[in-house]
Amino acid sequence: MSLSVNFMGIKLNNPIIVAASPLTGSGSMIRKAIDAGAGAVVTQTIINEVRPNVRPRIAANSLGMQNIELYSDLTLEEWEREIYYVKEKGAVVIANILAHTPSEMAYMAKKVERFGVDAIELGISIPHGEGVELLISDIERLYNLTKMAVDSVKIPVMVKFSPNVSNLTALAKVVEKAGASAISAIDTLRSILGVDIDKAKVMLPTYGGYSGEGIRPIALATIASISQAVKIPVSGIGGIENYKNVIEYIMLGASTVQLCTSLIMNGYGKIREILVDLENWLEQKGYSSLEDIRGQALVSLKSFEEISIEPYIAKINGKCNAENCGRCIKSCMYDAISLNNDIIVIDDSKCTGCGLCVSLCEKKLLFLDW
Ligand SMILES: Cc1cc2nc3c(=O)[nH]c(=O)nc-3n(C[C@H](O)[C@H](O)[C@H](O)COP(=O)(O)O)c2cc1C
Repeated sequence: MSLSVNFMGIKLNNPIIVAASPLTGSGSMIRKAIDAGAGAVVTQTIINEVRPNVRPRIAANSLGMQNIELYSDLTLEEWEREIYYVKEKGAVVIANILAHTPSEMAYMAKKVERFGVDAIELGISIPHGEGVELLISDIERLYNLTKMAVDSVKIPVMVKFSPNVSNLTALAKVVEKAGASAISAIDTLRSILGVDIDKAKVMLPTYGGYSGEGIRPIALATIASISQAVKIPVSGIGGIENYKNVIEYIMLGASTVQLCTSLIMNGYGKIREILVDLENWLEQKGYSSLEDIRGQALVSLKSFEEISIEPYIAKINGKCNAENCGRCIKSCMYDAISLNNDIIVIDDSKCTGCGLCVSLCEKKLLFLDW
């Protein structure tokens, strides 16, 4: 059993990449990520004109975190040294770069290529800062920025996407046409974490980017849409917490995945844990490589028009007395589930087959065979 993948023509020992963030903001941090088992790393966003980061800039809640951090505060010259330091150890390094014009993009791409990185990720999806979001959502600008980067270097170029756009598949196609070798998605989502109601004050002083478990459903949808729209490989990012999440992304077409918030919250040890669980699962299921499962779930993902209306209703397999739970009864908007002699029963004449109770059933007794 091998977890190795070929991504943009580069062989990775496994599909787990540490995403652009402070976790990859220096050579020593990158080395820690590689020692912890990561297949590759994407550097924190490197820019031409370094600016100090604001304070405070990160806050978390139960489903993830908001950050208002912009870019790496290391200069290009400092990055040359850091990249040399990690390449010495044979790490696969993807440089995440940001530039606002095609000529600046070409300059940055050539620079990091010369530093010895294996590939480039265009970090043009940051949802906060000054109008940077426009970079990804304007088709012509996106084409020019991507094409300029691709034409300036010999190494592969990947473009990082935001779901904060209305023309996702058109943008993906334009990036493919411009010669990009891959698309990664998603960057953080524009957010306000919350308001401290006693102080009548927002948690962080400006709009930020939300990441973590809470964004996973949005990221999965973005990855599926991009996978269906283009042929170039896709790297899935957003709320990956365990091996099951990795499999979800791969089954929706991703070739690699990137992790950030769960590593910030739990440490790099999470990487090894996920790799062991992933390998065990694949072996148990009789798969010989990740390629066997890539895109498998896309077959079940239909357009709305393709879904036929069938008379499905919820069924219960076994007996349940709703002890310490009863979520199916409380949440049934059709009043179809009740307790009869301390046993859960479903009124077939009232059940409309919505499926909510099935997804809430922790004991996995309820089912709906669609
Ligand atoms: C504190 C923090 C800093 C980040 N910095 C960058 C960055 O420099 N460049 C970038 O492209 N994405 C950056 N990201 C976004 C992540 O790379 C990733 O796309 C996003 O967090 C979603 O993945 P996650 O849910 O696993 O965190 C940052 C995220 C966090 C939480």
